[in-house]
Amino acid sequence: MEVIIVEQPGDVAVHAADAIEDLATSHPAPVLGLATGSTPRATYEETGRRIAAGRMTLARARAFMLDEYVGLPPHHPQSYRSVIDAIFTTKVDIDPANVAGPDGNASDVLAACAAYERAIAEAGGIDLQILGIGGDGHIAFNEPGSSLASATRIKTLIRATRQDNARFFEGVLDAVPSHCLTQGVATILRARHIVLLALGEPKAEAVRHAVEGPVSAMCPASALQLHPHVTVILDEGAASRLEMAAYYREVWENKPPWQRL
Ligand code: GLP
Repeated sequence: MEVIIVEQPGDVAVHAADAIEDLATSHPAPVLGLATGSTPRATYEETGRRIAAGRMTLARARAFMLDEYVGLPPHHPQSYRSVIDAIFTTKVDIDPANVAGPDGNASDVLAACAAYERAIAEAGGIDLQILGIGGDGHIAFNEPGSSLASATRIKTLIRATRQDNARFFEGVLDAVPSHCLTQGVATILRARHIVLLALGEPKAEAVRHAVEGPVSAMCPASALQLHPHVTVILDEGAASRLEMAAYYREVWENKPPWQRL
């Protein structure tokens, strides 16, 4: 794992957008993995600015979302489809038809999950997966206890995650769906490059477990330690509990120019 600790929270987005730009300028038809949540918003905005400035394009890109609530109408403002449209699709030049997500309203959930896995594989797999992390160490909606070998499936959200996300539902816990469809941990680990972003002290404990803790289903993000190419980009708050923080800073500051994200 490469760990980058930045002084200004805004620089998290700059480094993450660098990874997207590197891919987009070196690959004719890149496949992106998209996280929802508040953390990647600034990255998507920065990507949009670089596209507007003519530095890169996502016109030939495809994208796959990580997860979706079950039972929210697709046009509900808090469906992850609507959120991704608002924070990503409308900010960049990707063809909206090329942004896919799990179907949270499928009548046959098992078939929908299998179809989603197939769609990712048929696209050639994900080149670059942008990830956030939940306060409990979840990635996508893989809650603690998730199998580290899991594929896309239906999950029950734990109460703490629904409480965290109630802020998007006018603070009403009961308005937050109880179930979701989510890429599995193994699905995520098949991406060729994974960029995990975290902002603020409330994420510090989850980040510590993910980066320095034992690999455990109790912190699904810790499975990233098994992946050969993960970049973790943190602000000072999110990095504040890392035992090896000084070492990560030293490595990053002395990074040879040939070594890219
Ligand atoms: C949500 C999403 C995750 C996201 C995480 C953190 O529940 N399912 O994909 O990474 O929680 O969200 P935020 O970035 O808003 O803190």
